[in-house]
Amino acid sequence: MSRKKIAAGNWKMNTQINEGIALAKYIADAERDKGVITILAVPFTHIYAIQKKIKSSSKVLLAAQNCHHKTSGAFTGEISPVMLAGMKVPYVILGHSERREYNYEDNALLALKLRAALNSGLKVIFCCGESLNIRKAGNHLHHVQLQLQESLFQIEVREMKHITIAYEPIWAIGTGETASPAQAQEMHEAIRAMLKQKYGKGVAEKTSILYGGSVKGNNAKSIFSQQDVDGGLVGGASLSGEEFVSIINSF
Ligand code: PGA
Repeated sequence: MSRKKIAAGNWKMNTQINEGIALAKYIADAERDKGVITILAVPFTHIYAIQKKIKSSSKVLLAAQNCHHKTSGAFTGEISPVMLAGMKVPYVILGHSERREYNYEDNALLALKLRAALNSGLKVIFCCGESLNIRKAGNHLHHVQLQLQESLFQIEVREMKHITIAYEPIWAIGTGETASPAQAQEMHEAIRAMLKQKYGKGVAEKTSILYGGSVKGNNAKSIFSQQDVDGGLVGGASLSGEEFVSIINSF
């Protein structure tokens, strides 16, 4: 069973508008492996301009980095999933560890966000992953299982086709320390087993699971070559067009 291969760049709170447009254009125009889905999770403020500047034939898809769990209302400063869908943004990232930490997003809130995003017609890149303390204590598999059970596994089996999972060990994010290919494979295989138990073999085999955490041009190949790793969610290295394109072409 072949799964979708995905390279997703997460720009976080980086780039001024002109830099963002130039970066997106560079990636859109670059020679890229046609078998790889390229996603750019850009700041909200950049979405409209980047949509206008890149050709749809370039097959670069945009993602939002977050959305609210309600569709509209008195929530100053928030962005609704319906607004994103209205702008034809196909993807949203939910559950990134930075939002879990700095914005106190817990599994229960993420279940609500998932529900709202799916109801609005968005596809979701759902992040999970453990801290260094949890890994050192040997509880990483259990921790990720709980993250999935309490949020992602609240959705219906028919909705799973709209889900991509990103496993991002927190200790590897932005630290330059990557999980070893074997560590990534161990967790991805475990997540696939959890998917199988919850939703059956078909869903488990079809769901793409990305690795995130200091993916770079020089380590992407060894990580992506693991059997259960279907691509990457890339932070820092996605801010360099050249390096991100080399990651896209690492499958
Ligand atoms: P990084 O970030 O590649 O800079 O480690 C990954 C992420 O947070 O998605």
